[in-house]
Amino acid sequence: MAKILVTGGLGFIGSHTVVELINAGHEAVIVDDLSNATMQALSGIEKITGKCPEFVRVDLKNKKEVQNFFSSHSDLDGIIHFAAFKAVGESVYKPLEYYENNLGSLVYILQEMRDLSLDNFIFSSSCTVYGQADELPITENSPVKSALSPYGNTKQVGEEIIKDAIEAHGFNAISLRYFNPIGAHPSAEIGESPLGVPLNLVPFVTQTAAGVRQQLSVFGNDYETRDGTNERDYIHVVDVAKAHVIAVERLLKRKNLTNYEFFNLGTGTGSTVLEVIQSFERVSGESLNYKIVERRRGDVTAAFADTTKANAELAWKTEKTLDDAMTDAWRWEKKIRNI
Ligand code: WQD
Repeated sequence: MAKILVTGGLGFIGSHTVVELINAGHEAVIVDDLSNATMQALSGIEKITGKCPEFVRVDLKNKKEVQNFFSSHSDLDGIIHFAAFKAVGESVYKPLEYYENNLGSLVYILQEMRDLSLDNFIFSSSCTVYGQADELPITENSPVKSALSPYGNTKQVGEEIIKDAIEAHGFNAISLRYFNPIGAHPSAEIGESPLGVPLNLVPFVTQTAAGVRQQLSVFGNDYETRDGTNERDYIHVVDVAKAHVIAVERLLKRKNLTNYEFFNLGTGTGSTVLEVIQSFERVSGESLNYKIVERRRGDVTAAFADTTKANAELAWKTEKTLDDAMTDAWRWEKKIRNI
């Protein structure tokens, strides 16, 4: 059993990863600033696992708060760092908040790892580091192109910061570049609950169907794709969570081949926005109210993963389909809206 810090551990992917860490027999310690999460996620984790992990509210972009936390938690075996702002569209309008939050928190955590000789760092990265890839599917060797959004740039720069820290201070890290995590835990005890108007597609779809939103706006249908709408690789959040457990255990057991590894986490299949809507309508029996509007700044046309490396080296592959994810997302939405 290992003691793993999960930053952003009450968030969407973080909470699902805490569940899988506990299921694998590890102890999770959660820090979160509750800027995009609620305490409901902690009770959801307890309902699923029967365990209530330690939670400490920390503003990770406040250096003093980070130092205080680590001064009483120097016995960590590994760190999974999710805490970040993550909306591509929003980052275009709030770049400075994204750089302050996403990079400030990363630097402060790495400084504590250096000072306390901690090791085994898993970084929540993103397919947005590839920008609009020239070739699809996207492999880990696809060039990291200039990001099309400040969010994507925080992930690119974040990966560079970790590389330099490893070279200077020598620890082991894995950067997991996920595509589009969606869905919810099948128990409907935890799921995606963005505060305010959802910036991502799937929660906007389920909130529209639940009557919380009037209508879904589809951001453009004049792209070079099979139906004109953007194509993404939508991966069930539980599959993403399980990959994080495998990755941190890889480092704990020193199975990593180099001290800094990168893996794409995707299904390997692209789906367009209209195909996501069709999947939702198929599994829910609901007819979704949507309209086509102008493109959204920062969007790439298409992105989906080549999963060969993660399948082979992590012995991990996705088990759930787009329909599974939309089924679980809808069950979660109905639960939190008492429908
Ligand atoms: C998906 C598609 C929109 C909302 C996400 C995460 C980011 C990263 C990559 C992990 C796009 C369209 C959306 C809406 C729409 N993941 N859309 N109407 O931009 O691919 O980025 O995955 O790090 O963190 O944000 O996801 O869900 O915002 O958009 O038409 O109301 O849905 O144009 O084509 P995106 P998204």
